[in-house]
Amino acid sequence: MLIVFLGPPGAGKGTQAERLAAELGIPHLSTGEMLRQEMQRKTELGERAAAYIHSGHLVPDDLMVDMVTQWLAGGMARNGAILDGFPRTVPQAESLEEALRERGQQVDCVIRLTADRDELRRRLLQRGRLDDNREAIEKRLEVYARQTRPLIDFYHDRGLLEQVDGMGTPEEVFERIQAAIRRRQAMQRP
Ligand code: AP5
Ligand code: MG
Repeated sequence: MLIVFLGPPGAGKGTQAERLAAELGIPHLSTGEMLRQEMQRKTELGERAAAYIHSGHLVPDDLMVDMVTQWLAGGMARNGAILDGFPRTVPQAESLEEALRERGQQVDCVIRLTADRDELRRRLLQRGRLDDNREAIEKRLEVYARQTRPLIDFYHDRGLLEQVDGMGTPEEVFERIQAAIRRRQAMQRP
């Protein structure tokens, strides 16, 4: 299964995607993690992405699409994958659709994780990553609302959306996600 995790910063995409990937035995691609590694290694991509990440803006679509299509070309997602933090704009989603189509694949399910704004802020401030300061958090929330939320309709129209409540303990949320995946698997069976 090719699963996309969609949700605002702090919703628990990374936490839950990692668990689900282990459970399903498929790779987990977090574009945020990948970019942070590039920054740490001071690669050209890392240097270009740093200013966007630290201010809470999105890295330009062309850089992200190149990064993800290269990853797909490596064959890692042959038996499925979990994409966490990509796509994040409609052009990214369209490029992904195209790249997968070329490989005879498609997105099978989109898990939309939701949580209250106050809870999102609380989780991020507690974590304290470099882009988890108040200013960058507000920008990330605003950017999510403006640029990423349209993907909810995009995937709803394709019948792929599973809405999961991200409030509660990580264990409670994981159980809801597992239930959503089981529903999808049942729908896919002929
Ligand atoms: P990215 O790393 O993807 O950050 P994000 O989307 O802002 O989301 P987070 O990773 O902060 O939150 P999450 O939903 O994964 O939650 P998590 O599980 O960590 O992107 C960073 C930046 O990279 C972007 O701003 C952008 O600049 C760039 N970028 C990345 N992808 C891009 C793309 N496709 N296009 C353009 N730019 C891109 O949980 C958060 C915290 O809460 C953790 O401490 C966790 O332990 C805790 N927590 C999780 N679940 C619970 C729970 N149920 N109860 C209590 N605490 C919890
Ligand atoms: Mg994350």
